Amino acid sequence: KTPIPRAKGIDNSLSLIKEGFHFLPNQRKEMQSDIFKTRILGQKAICIAGEEAAEVFYNNDLFKRKGAMPKPLKLSLFGEGSLHGLDGEPHKNRKRMFLSMFTPERVEDLVDLALKHLDAKAGEWQSQDGVAVLDQMQEILTRAGCEWAGVPLAEGEVQQRTDEVVAMVDSFGGSLSRFRDGKKARDSHEEWLQKIIKSVRKGKYNPPENTAVYTIAHHRDEKGKPFDLHTAAVELSNAFRPLIATANFLVFGALAMHEHPETRQKIAADEDRYSHMFSQEVRRYYPFVPAMAAKVKKDFTWHDYTFKKDTLVILDIFGTNRHPDSWEQAETFLPERFKDWQGSPFAFIPQGGGDHHIGHRCAGEWLTVYVMRAFFKYFAQNISYDVPEQDLSYSLERMPTFPKSGFVITNVKKAADSD
Ligand code: HEM
Repeated sequence: KTPIPRAKGIDNSLSLIKEGFHFLPNQRKEMQSDIFKTRILGQKAICIAGEEAAEVFYNNDLFKRKGAMPKPLKLSLFGEGSLHGLDGEPHKNRKRMFLSMFTPERVEDLVDLALKHLDAKAGEWQSQDGVAVLDQMQEILTRAGCEWAGVPLAEGEVQQRTDEVVAMVDSFGGSLSRFRDGKKARDSHEEWLQKIIKSVRKGKYNPPENTAVYTIAHHRDEKGKPFDLHTAAVELSNAFRPLIATANFLVFGALAMHEHPETRQKIAADEDRYSHMFSQEVRRYYPFVPAMAAKVKKDFTWHDYTFKKDTLVILDIFGTNRHPDSWEQAETFLPERFKDWQGSPFAFIPQGGGDHHIGHRCAGEWLTVYVMRAFFKYFAQNISYDVPEQDLSYSLERMPTFPKSGFVITNVKKAADSD
């Protein structure tokens, strides 16, 4: 058996938090290996990267999620008892429920709602001095997500609910104060959603049957039991909260259009579904999810390396999306690379790898891509704007990350025919 190279340092949790998106790629470079072992949060961990690594990581016979997710992430980002941490039949049942809410018709509904809110906001931007696109996208997606999910959102609480969702997503990078804010936000967010589920179950609030709130309030698990109130709120949150993450990709797309102006014209013309290629490249190139964790289900050997039952394994998501074995000029933003791309469920994994139905791959991947395509087209076709001098750099040490200025635009004008 080949020994797995060991990273320097006793426990690398702090380096991971400090180096952020750089940590795994830097270690791999230093050791010249796509596999290495270290200690994270006091546990032995094996870190792996690349297409083949992703393929083994998403094999349900070899890996499980039970016990893999750090407690702070449950308390702030995902919610306790959510499908992210389930295995086997309970996961299959829950995943089926999620995918049944994200049918092509419902994806279209969400895109339409999101565009409606975007168009209304763009109207307001015309009379404003300057707007930060990041904040605006977060509000638009909260409004659209709630409306789509059947979650009533009073005008007076839009800001509060948006801030809560943003705080939960912003909490995953390891800073203690952001974690505290995220946990507080989640407590209030779940309390709000529990009340809504309760009133649906009591028949006081009757949302349409195709909404997430209806589906989750009435869902039966694999044993025929409804969700307890807490789990129902957690999963209702999972049906629209992650949309907020799309705001980061939307802002990175706006940045890419600004830095590569030719892409803007190509999106506007949209020949060969250029807006799709552009959206895919935004998801590949820009950082959002750094890594995923799972535990070894049973002893096995892979490429002569031994994986022992219950070992924590961390898959380098960011590094796999930029792995030179899978991508030519991996460090360059090149939407055209997706023109003749053959597809691979394991080389391109910004929202997880493998199969959406049987594995943990993101249930909202198509929602994300369709919203991105529609928004980029709207930006390229329906509005003009200036991008004044500002700090557009983004930190690879901060997780999650975004252009520091929030991408401010001024002199917004809607095209005459979009009114
Ligand atoms: C799972 C990323 C948007 C719902 C995941 C996973 C990742 C991810 C990395 C976990 C994969 C794994 O466990 O191996 C993202 C990113 C998004 C996004 C980067 C946008 C920028 C969405 C949206 C929704 C959504 C819009 C729904 C509204 C879910 C759900 C799961 C999931 C329900 C759990 C799947 C499971 O455990 O089987 N996402 N996601 N996500 N995502 Fe997303």
